[in-house]
Amino acid sequence: ESIKVFAPATVANVACGFDIFGFAVDAPGDEVIVKKRNDKQIVITKISGDEGKLTLDASKNAVTVPIIAFLKKNGIEQGFDVELHKKMPLGSGLGSSSASSVAGVFAVNEILGKPCTTKSLLPFSMEGERIACGSAHADNVAPALMGGFVVIRSYNPLDIFSVPTPSELFVTIVHPDIEVNTKDARHILRNEVSMKNTIAQMGNVAGMIAGLMQSDYDLIARSMVDFIIEPVRAILIPEFWEVKHAALEAGALGCSISGAGPSVFAFSKGQSTAEKVAMAMKTAFEKASIHCNAYVSGV
Ligand code: HSE
Repeated sequence: ESIKVFAPATVANVACGFDIFGFAVDAPGDEVIVKKRNDKQIVITKISGDEGKLTLDASKNAVTVPIIAFLKKNGIEQGFDVELHKKMPLGSGLGSSSASSVAGVFAVNEILGKPCTTKSLLPFSMEGERIACGSAHADNVAPALMGGFVVIRSYNPLDIFSVPTPSELFVTIVHPDIEVNTKDARHILRNEVSMKNTIAQMGNVAGMIAGLMQSDYDLIARSMVDFIIEPVRAILIPEFWEVKHAALEAGALGCSISGAGPSVFAFSKGQSTAEKVAMAMKTAFEKASIHCNAYVSGV
């Protein structure tokens, strides 16, 4: 008996919502196949698409750590063979480790006849994130698990909710061929934030949610400003400001860093604008001889 599960890439932070906003895209994503064993072991039998970068040690891989935690918590003594097919770049700011974490534990829950609700798989998926980058933030795993746009209202206790999105909202994601380690990208952030920036950021967080819920594209555009994280992390992404400028010139509502980067994302109203924005952003990276891939998806 085996089961195959797909989990999508995700864009975390979404400009103003560091660690609290994230949404899933249609593609790319990861594929995980789990198969019951006749013993209690969790074994990674195959990994593809990772250029040999990921460990086959099940106690250290983001795909199996959530499975192990889930089985332990639920007192289930069943072993699994796990195959991981990475269909998205690692260290890209697209929630690569999250897609693996979610697909793995979701697959095991399914094959066992769903002893747990989808939402209750979140804390286990977060353990995968912790092993991958040292921090159990949920803004990639939650949308990869639930789909759509998700808000983490609180981490302790964990409280998440979904937000509806306008039908014409599209995202362009451009992934430049450089790697940014999430751990490093978190390390460079300051621990203190000024009162002025906190107030400005809170206004944008509120504006983003209201804009999404009311299909108010102008309000979304005005709210897509990050006073706290983007100015610090932009230095990790060559040509970031040029790419952002190109996206806005091409008609994007706004543009910022996807998760911890180096991918850059932009929102647009309508798919054709999102395609135009993709070309403009790609061209800006390529002007500096940085090769990149672009994706366009509904939000
Ligand atoms: N919110 C996280 C960060 C997402 O920006 O560090 C990274 O995966």
